[in-house]
Amino acid sequence: MHLSPATLVSTDPRLIHLAQASAAASGGTLSVVSHAEDLRALWRTSSAILIGADCIEEVVSWALPRREQVYLLGFEESQEVLCQWSVPLGASVIQLPDGGKWLSRVIAGHTRDLETGVVVEVRGGAGGVGASTLCAGLGVVAQAKTLAVALVDADPCGGGLDLLMGAESAPGWRWDKLRKAVGQIADVTSMLPRAEGITMVSMERGSSEPVPMAALEAVIDCLARTHDLVLVDPGRTTGELQSVKRSVILSTQTVRSLASTKVRLSEFTTKNSALVIRKGGSVGAGDAARALDLPLIGILPNVVELPRLADRGIPPSLGGAWKKSCSKILNWCMGESIPARGV
Ligand SMILES: Nc1ncnc2c1ncn2[C@@H]1O[C@H](COP(=O)(O)OP(=O)(O)O)[C@@H](O)[C@H]1O
Ligand SMILES: [Mg+2]
Repeated sequence: MHLSPATLVSTDPRLIHLAQASAAASGGTLSVVSHAEDLRALWRTSSAILIGADCIEEVVSWALPRREQVYLLGFEESQEVLCQWSVPLGASVIQLPDGGKWLSRVIAGHTRDLETGVVVEVRGGAGGVGASTLCAGLGVVAQAKTLAVALVDADPCGGGLDLLMGAESAPGWRWDKLRKAVGQIADVTSMLPRAEGITMVSMERGSSEPVPMAALEAVIDCLARTHDLVLVDPGRTTGELQSVKRSVILSTQTVRSLASTKVRLSEFTTKNSALVIRKGGSVGAGDAARALDLPLIGILPNVVELPRLADRGIPPSLGGAWKKSCSKILNWCMGESIPARGV
């Protein structure tokens, strides 16, 4: 199908002016429309659809079919409406003026060229099962394989991934500086603390305030542009993150842990999820996977040193069975298919 230029739906002169300037600067062209029939005519063939904050609700009422490359465009004062519609429309937010560069790329049709890293979340089926520790362990193993890795902690009650990595006093931004992030943000990598060569986004000390989903998406997207692997520890965050490509679900082998995991799984689509079993309990790993209807990608050993290392702020950079297991799980995270004959 031949793609026409990008289309902007807006009647806001400031927005139209800025978008047209962006188009001119990037050598792209832009059609500007404000009526349902005009947008409908261009809906399928436009390389990208930009919906101005002033028209979002109207466009929603036109009930157009879902498509890729839809962006919501607005200034800071429209942040609320942009965030509100981003998820239901499956659209990224471009907030101006900060997102001007991104807007130029979208209009010029260059967004598909951007190589982005893999985003993986590690969810514990039950509290205390070891999800944060596994997240950190995967990060350490990936970094040792020379991947550029970022760890994103979104759990205000998890005790802090930075503590686990021994980076609680490392200088740099925490979530308090990033909570207002939305849409395409500038690269913040250099502002963030690092531990063992891994970029960290962690909770500020003493805060129990959850991270807004829009901020989480914006920061993850940003880090995926500068890292090979972004590992997310969502804790009890229940919303689904659009940028997550694969979900690692961790459970022990006890009936209670598995029952809790089953309930948690009902909160998500599990299309790209796989199970890791942490040793301990009487249910066989294969039976556990069947009961949860998930592919099994790893069995994690119980390592008595881990709690002690965590207390001393030493990252879980152990060898032996721990490293072997983390490497196997990492292979799946990076795109390897499920082992046919089990783990
Ligand atoms: N594989 C493991 N073997 C032994 N202890 C572990 C293991 N994984 C985690 N732990 C310990 O269990 C406790 C909870 O781990 P954590 O990673 O914070 O769990 P979660 O994030 O699922 O709540 C910590 O004391 C941690 O050191
Ligand atoms: Mg945790």
